[in-house]
Amino acid sequence: MASLRIPTAGPLQGAARVPGDKSISHRAVMLGALAEGVTEIEGFLPGADCLSTIACFRALGIQIEQPDPTRVIVHGAGEAGLQEPEDLLYVGNSGTTLYLTLGVLAGQAFTSVLTGDSSIRRRPVQRVGIPLRQMGATILARRDGTLPPVTIRGGALQPITYTLPSASAQVKSAVLLAGLFAEGVTTAISPAVSRDHTERMLRGFGADVRVEGMRASVRGPARLRAQPVSVPGDISSAAFLLVAGCIVPGSEILVESVGINPTRSGIVDALQAMGARITVEREREVAGEPVADLRVCASELRGTSLAGAIIPRLIDEIPILAVAAACATGDTVIRDAGALRIKETDRIATTAALLRAYGVAVDVLEDGMVVHGAGDPRALKGAEIDSEGDHRIAMAGAVAALAAMGESVIRGAECVDVSFPGFAERLRQLGAAVGEGE
Ligand code: S3P
Repeated sequence: MASLRIPTAGPLQGAARVPGDKSISHRAVMLGALAEGVTEIEGFLPGADCLSTIACFRALGIQIEQPDPTRVIVHGAGEAGLQEPEDLLYVGNSGTTLYLTLGVLAGQAFTSVLTGDSSIRRRPVQRVGIPLRQMGATILARRDGTLPPVTIRGGALQPITYTLPSASAQVKSAVLLAGLFAEGVTTAISPAVSRDHTERMLRGFGADVRVEGMRASVRGPARLRAQPVSVPGDISSAAFLLVAGCIVPGSEILVESVGINPTRSGIVDALQAMGARITVEREREVAGEPVADLRVCASELRGTSLAGAIIPRLIDEIPILAVAAACATGDTVIRDAGALRIKETDRIATTAALLRAYGVAVDVLEDGMVVHGAGDPRALKGAEIDSEGDHRIAMAGAVAALAAMGESVIRGAECVDVSFPGFAERLRQLGAAVGEGE
């Protein structure tokens, strides 16, 4: 297993780019597959999760070329063009591949079986199984229909209006993607705003999508037309550099070309509320998504309270926000984040364990945590931690290591490639002495 060896870092300086947005990269492959014509994707994230989506759609009969890691060409087969796979569809570690592909497969009159790694086989099927069955798909899964491997046979769907029990873009997207194949209007009603990349991209591909407040609807059957997609940098990856810039004394980092879709930019709002010196520069729009450069300077952070509507806007950033909170003065209270328990790991548990390893006090709550800030980044003590196979835990641990006094070791760091290939290299470019070993 790969490990990262990280000593206390001096000031981090310079400009950096982050890989393409994971959510948008997945969707570009999926919509490209269902569209008529050729979809060229640039800025694609060549991380393990998005490569799993490519592999699954190839197994469904779609021709997909990848002339270089960040350029992907999808030869769309149209709305009726997918073919029954000959073997299991393997989603690896990717929940987005699992849930969104189930939405697509609900519309296909053939049988597919999806499975993935040990983390995927612990993730709940019912969150999409319930609405997709209501639409007419047949879904069977292990443990009474609750855990992958999952078998789906779709076709002949009815449109539904589905009220999501919690704000989840994955569930909303699965319902809308299935809605492409149902005759009439399919609506997903969310209790709070979640990322809207599916709605934006579907519209770009020519689908009749309406969004009114918390209701997102699509009219089926839809014919999608291929579109070029330019993927912005992933704000969820930028988050690690932003927090590194805040907590390593003397730092100044410019993270260029980051997607700042308001359904994703909660990390910037939360850090600014904690006193972070972050400025949003050169705001522009690229392929229907807002993009900017983010400048961050070392900052004296104070604790904050995160709950309610902001949570879905920063759900993937909670491990790294907890690292920022660990360096802050005062307590940070995080609530309404029970969704963290069904991510790549139980991220409430793994984040708390990570902070404790660095000597920070944390109270675990059912739906969040209270981080008792150490008041000074250098009060963290170098630690040895295990990623538990979770990419965001590995990277949060690495960023804490930059601030901590003494050397830290992050074991099981190969999972970083799930979303941020080149992470260690990026830290080195900014001046950190990150070593890699077995
Ligand atoms: C994602 C949605 C989020 C997020 C995940 C990617 C997406 O999950 O945690 O990493 O691309 O739609 P939920 O919306 O299910 O919370």
